[in-house]
Amino acid sequence: MSQAGIVNVMKETRVFPPPPEFSAKARIKSMEQYREMWQRAKDDPEGFWGEYAKELHWFKPYEKVLEWNEPFATWFKNGQTNVSYNCLDVHLNTWRRNKVAYIWEGEPGDVRVLTYEMLHREVCKFASVLKSLGIQKGDRVSIYMPMVPELPIAMLACARIGAIHSVVFGGFAAEALAERNNDAQAKLLITADGGWRRGKIVPLKENADRAMEKSPTIQKCIVLKRTGQEINMVDGRDLWWHELMKDASANCPAEPMDSEAPLFLLYTSGSTGKPKGVKHTTAGYNLYAKKTMEWVFDIRDEDVYWCTADIGWITGHTYIVYGPLSAGATIVMYEGAPDWPGYDRWWDIIERYKVNILYTAPTAIRTFIKWGDEHVEKHDLSSLRLLGSVGEGINPEAWMWYYEKIGGGRCPIVDTWWQTETGGIMISPLPGCTPLKPGSATFPLPGVVPEVVGEDGKPVPVGVGGWLVITQPWPGMLRGIWGDDERYKRQYWSDVPHKYLAGDNARIDEDGYIWIMGRIDDVLNVSGHRLSTIEVESALVSHPAVAEAAAVGRPHEIKGEAICAFVTLAEGYEPSDALRQELKNHVRQQIGALAVPDDIRFTTALPKTRSGKIMRRLLRDIAAGRETVGDTSTLEDYSVLARLRAGEE
Ligand code: WT7
Repeated sequence: MSQAGIVNVMKETRVFPPPPEFSAKARIKSMEQYREMWQRAKDDPEGFWGEYAKELHWFKPYEKVLEWNEPFATWFKNGQTNVSYNCLDVHLNTWRRNKVAYIWEGEPGDVRVLTYEMLHREVCKFASVLKSLGIQKGDRVSIYMPMVPELPIAMLACARIGAIHSVVFGGFAAEALAERNNDAQAKLLITADGGWRRGKIVPLKENADRAMEKSPTIQKCIVLKRTGQEINMVDGRDLWWHELMKDASANCPAEPMDSEAPLFLLYTSGSTGKPKGVKHTTAGYNLYAKKTMEWVFDIRDEDVYWCTADIGWITGHTYIVYGPLSAGATIVMYEGAPDWPGYDRWWDIIERYKVNILYTAPTAIRTFIKWGDEHVEKHDLSSLRLLGSVGEGINPEAWMWYYEKIGGGRCPIVDTWWQTETGGIMISPLPGCTPLKPGSATFPLPGVVPEVVGEDGKPVPVGVGGWLVITQPWPGMLRGIWGDDERYKRQYWSDVPHKYLAGDNARIDEDGYIWIMGRIDDVLNVSGHRLSTIEVESALVSHPAVAEAAAVGRPHEIKGEAICAFVTLAEGYEPSDALRQELKNHVRQQIGALAVPDDIRFTTALPKTRSGKIMRRLLRDIAAGRETVGDTSTLEDYSVLARLRAGEE
């Protein structure tokens, strides 16, 4: 990790104050109110969070709000609650019983609407199914599904009986699924025959079959019928969702769960090749999801809210499922691609359901810019009142387009910085009070105390880049990495003592605005998806033709970052376009489409230091077509650089 070469090229001076009508109705209406909340949460976190904890249902009251045994937090010690109860049951004795929870639209155009009552019933039934299959508290359940209502139903059913879910994004390949099944030692896999994407079937069950060959702990597999093509069902192992649900009991009370009982694992990339199972627990996560939903999106009962993420990522967990349901919101959920059947699918959805709040990613926005304004202009988007962005920094050009073309110049944009590990949004404008600067995630939420520090762990001066750290525990924080406390400590709590190291660079400007400046480690951000360079390299090296591989990111107009892989070949193999294509397919099969390099460059050697470390910094420069800046004195063989530059094949 190095802070060398961090330069700030953004000079953004525009400021957009919140519209007065927005502020008037918002929960947090002024910067004074925000500052007061923030200070209170910093000075007295237990008093602050203890008050909000009343909004959850407690089967048994907790004894202490926070016990901090660095780096392990216990929030709401010895209390008992249940996340599925807080998402569903709490609404049933209120007028929200018949309020719409999900408006779901499949890619082919099929629509389903589930009220809180209906969702509750489905969740109870599926929880009964899980119990009947012998799933118990603490068991791990892998979920590999398309974006259909049964996905949140499966998650909530796990939460209801205390099973720990591990959702694996449907775009991951069999290998990646097997790796996650095995690390979590999952007993059960829930999948579907397939899902729809750009009019084609994503063959989930086929992938699941291949994964299960290598997942010895999986005993049963529940299969939802979605796409209807012929699939392989293994007798005694594979069971149809609809058959299990036919006679399932709708009576399945939520199990009282300890505040710190694990709710889910979500695998994410770190700087090694092995994805880590980020562990989130019950009460603190639930409360954090609910409060950040209410503060950042200022969600109201009459709102229709749409988060376009896939539930396979943390954004979907917290802001399609647990946050909005806890807040009693009406949520739009869409299965498929944004360009199917036309480039205006999203705008059509917004117009038809009168979506008020849209939460999406910069990579999507840049794609829409490329597709052209005419697709947007065909639709009436006047229902929108608030826009959100997540996954990577939003460049000011994309921000302005989002603001003007989508928001009609009247909707605040909340640029939300957070991570799989943080459980919920950490740094973000509050739409009713924060004056926006395009490209800045602005200020920390109440309960979040960040600093930007140098390698000595001390805060850097205003305007200077450094490591972003969080100095106090917050309720949504990860509680560890599944099965690897040491890695948890090493990864987040060792480079800067007593502070959570987020892994991003940032700087704070003279007005206190935080600007996120990208990762400090070998983690790539491709279209808002996190990948480690080593994962891509391992996939490449597992092909017999590859001797050595180094993957780096290079700037990409749409994806933010694209993967460029430098490959040396094994004896007897020659560079060719056919081999290049074969290697791309191989990576697709090992990890998934999201990890396929845009460029594969064959070379006879990689630039290394004398101790044998690949000098990625140089490769990054070459991949980006930049002159190499900085120190090359540790390079072992200078001619390698010259040959790479010359584009040797
Ligand atoms: C990394 C976390 C949390 C949901 C999606 C990604 C980058 C995320 C922003 C933002 C600049 C951002 C960071 C972070 N990131 N949001 N608003 N501005 N960078 O979750 O896969 O855990 O990735 O995404 O680099 O560390 P994730």
